[in-house]
Amino acid sequence: MAASFVDNGDTVCDVGCDHGKLSLYLVQRGKAKQIIATDINEQPLQKAVDLFASHDLSHTATFLLTDGLQGIENTDSITHVVIAGLGGHTMAQVIENAPFIKENKVQLVLLPAQSGYFVRRFLYENGYSITTEKTVTEKGKYYSCISAIYTGIVKQPDIYDMYIGESYTNTDESAKGYFEMILAQLDKKRRGIEIDTGNADNQYTDAVERIHSLLEKI
Ligand SMILES: C[S@@+](CC[C@H](N)C(=O)[O-])C[C@H]1O[C@@H](n2cnc3c(N)ncnc32)[C@H](O)[C@@H]1O
Repeated sequence: MAASFVDNGDTVCDVGCDHGKLSLYLVQRGKAKQIIATDINEQPLQKAVDLFASHDLSHTATFLLTDGLQGIENTDSITHVVIAGLGGHTMAQVIENAPFIKENKVQLVLLPAQSGYFVRRFLYENGYSITTEKTVTEKGKYYSCISAIYTGIVKQPDIYDMYIGESYTNTDESAKGYFEMILAQLDKKRRGIEIDTGNADNQYTDAVERIHSLLEKI
């Protein structure tokens, strides 16, 4: 899914590349001319190195053992940063620590494994606009792939923005599963707040109602 958000890439960074399959796919499909594949752990990064070597494509990639995007020297040709399968908190940290993303208006492709609300909040509050989201299902789990770019437009997101973002445009079966998953999370939080404070939280109540409406349209 993340790969479908990358088109005509020059240098594409794949953060947390693990086995390197996404990076390889991007090169093989002509979606990236060059790859910078990073991983914080040596073993997965080595798998990516070996995968590229086994396809005679080592010349198309640079492999970095690093946290996020730290230590990349030349960022001029980077058009996309893809981060798939990491948590929303880590993603926000990686983006914050790489100012070139903002300065060079690099296209972000983010597929959070969990805590998508956190990275959406970070994006909205820091001048990134979410251009598209596509919900996806894999092995019985539901995700939303987020495409975003720095525009300087800052938004104070409410609970609905953080948990749904632009995913509301999706209407297929994966959207249904995604919205139901988010609804269950928000309902739990909403009930917890009500028990703790004795009051209903309007933002949570509003978000839950809006998600019910989304589900009615599917
Ligand atoms: C679930 S895998 C992601 C797999 C791959 N991106 C994909 O979509 O198939 C997570 C990978 O991210 C790496 N990772 C975790 N935190 C990281 C960080 N801060 N910087 C770089 N890599 C990280 C882990 O070592 C692991 O290989």
